Amino acid sequence: MSADAAAARPTLTTHPAWHALSAHADDMRGRSLRALFAADPSRGTRFTAEAAGLYLDYSKNRITDETIRLLAALARACRLDERIAAMFRGEPINTTEGRAVLHVALRAPRDASIVVDGEDVVPGVHDVLDRMAAFAAQVRDGRWRGHTGRPIRAVVNVGIGGSDLGPVMAYEALRHYSARDLTFRFVSNVDGTDFAEATRDLDPAETLFIIASKTFTTLETMANARTARQWTLAALGDARAVARHFVAVSTNAKAVAAFGIDTSQMFGFWDWVGGRYSMDSAIGLSTMIAVGAERFHEMLAGFHAMDEHFRTAPVERNLPALMGLIAIWHANFFGAATAAVLPYDQYLKRLPAYLQQLTMESNGKHVTLEGARVDYETGPIYWGEPGTNGQHSFYQLIHQGTRIVPCDFIGFGRSLNPIGEHHDLLMANVFAQTQALAFGKTEDEVRAEGTPERLVPHRAFEGNRPTNTILAERLTPHTLGALVALYEHSVFTQGAIWGIDSFDQWGVELGKVLASRIVPELMSADDPPPAHDSSTNALIGRYRRMKAGTER
Ligand code: F6P
Repeated sequence: MSADAAAARPTLTTHPAWHALSAHADDMRGRSLRALFAADPSRGTRFTAEAAGLYLDYSKNRITDETIRLLAALARACRLDERIAAMFRGEPINTTEGRAVLHVALRAPRDASIVVDGEDVVPGVHDVLDRMAAFAAQVRDGRWRGHTGRPIRAVVNVGIGGSDLGPVMAYEALRHYSARDLTFRFVSNVDGTDFAEATRDLDPAETLFIIASKTFTTLETMANARTARQWTLAALGDARAVARHFVAVSTNAKAVAAFGIDTSQMFGFWDWVGGRYSMDSAIGLSTMIAVGAERFHEMLAGFHAMDEHFRTAPVERNLPALMGLIAIWHANFFGAATAAVLPYDQYLKRLPAYLQQLTMESNGKHVTLEGARVDYETGPIYWGEPGTNGQHSFYQLIHQGTRIVPCDFIGFGRSLNPIGEHHDLLMANVFAQTQALAFGKTEDEVRAEGTPERLVPHRAFEGNRPTNTILAERLTPHTLGALVALYEHSVFTQGAIWGIDSFDQWGVELGKVLASRIVPELMSADDPPPAHDSSTNALIGRYRRMKAGTER
């Protein structure tokens, strides 16, 4: 550790608020949700909060009023309110990259004003939104023609990380509202299979590629973009076809031009938008083409409603702050290493994957803003699957495993596809699962059912397993925006308490650098043996032989 970092030891665990929470957690370990609910019949309605069309029931966590009071005190000690204000003011709170963090500006209304480095960024945001809207309308109504004069029928987004997960998640989530005469595909992996399968049944004369990359240097995206260009030109036989079949979304106009896409066909954004916070920037172009500008603006309004709630509501009624603080309670005081996100809506099937990047690339950090090694756990591992599929797979561990897995259950009052009794069956499972996790089933209850004694321990459920339930009336663009902003700001809250930079991602760099060194070693079979460690050398050697067909 450098002298500076050593001098800046983290202080979080020395705060009186942290000590108080630690002592309180010891007390709470002996208390059960059964007893807490029995003692307070209003618990299920008191430990709730509502904003931007979302209802959060956090009563089935092992918390009391005292817990919330102490968590709010911790938030005050860590100056959460000042951190929030600094973000909304456009201060460079991403200190390791010297950047403002202003995804909230992407959904600010047209008449708002947010000044960064002396410039109001809101007009620029709306200029891009307007250009996106004009372009999306042309593609949707067939005015935008391919090189041979045929209308576009397929849109392929080529990007990775935040330039893929947001677009694909939002497309799937809002598919109900999408133009069904257009096909949408998403290519991210540098594995050629991804491109091959995504384009296998598409006609190049009717396909539009959106090359989405904040930096326009990402190896995977550039490789896929080059392949897309070859695929198009091989079929259309004219370099001028690029102009009708490629648009770019990026902050790097120079690299876009160097690739051969005219910058008049580039939709820009700014370095104060992090990749994983960019789905509502121009990176959302595929979403806008799918659902139209009006629906896209409804989504932005949902984001904005949650932003305003986060900015203004007191911690005790602030959904993202509560969710973030309760996540801290589990991670730091109950040793929860993971958290599950369980959407009970098939349209949200990619939400867990999206949230994995949002949460783990943001808060998977081991040093504080000052560069000191933390002496507490940070970002838990997020994972999940849509219900009810997960119930028949990994819920066993959540119910009866040895680890605590806090879960977020997400459900809706009305289905977008009301078929028979399906929705009641679906939602009954949300309520049943959270009930079972909270209250379990005692050995006496199991015995009373006539269970043979040797099976009693197997059939008992300890309960006391924490859940949040998030309900909304229907999955709309507005709800989706509010839901994503809820998680963005919950992540922010956790990062503010841990004192880390939630907006950089240095941890992805080393692997990229090493891969770029290895690439030429794999391409040439004649080169001398590579000079890495003995494992990597042997693996590369075996790969070369397998590639040459001399090793089977
Ligand atoms: O490698 C991680 C990362 O930088 C993510 O943060 C980002 O979302 C992704 O790569 C894609 O980056 P880009 O949009 O610049 O291609």
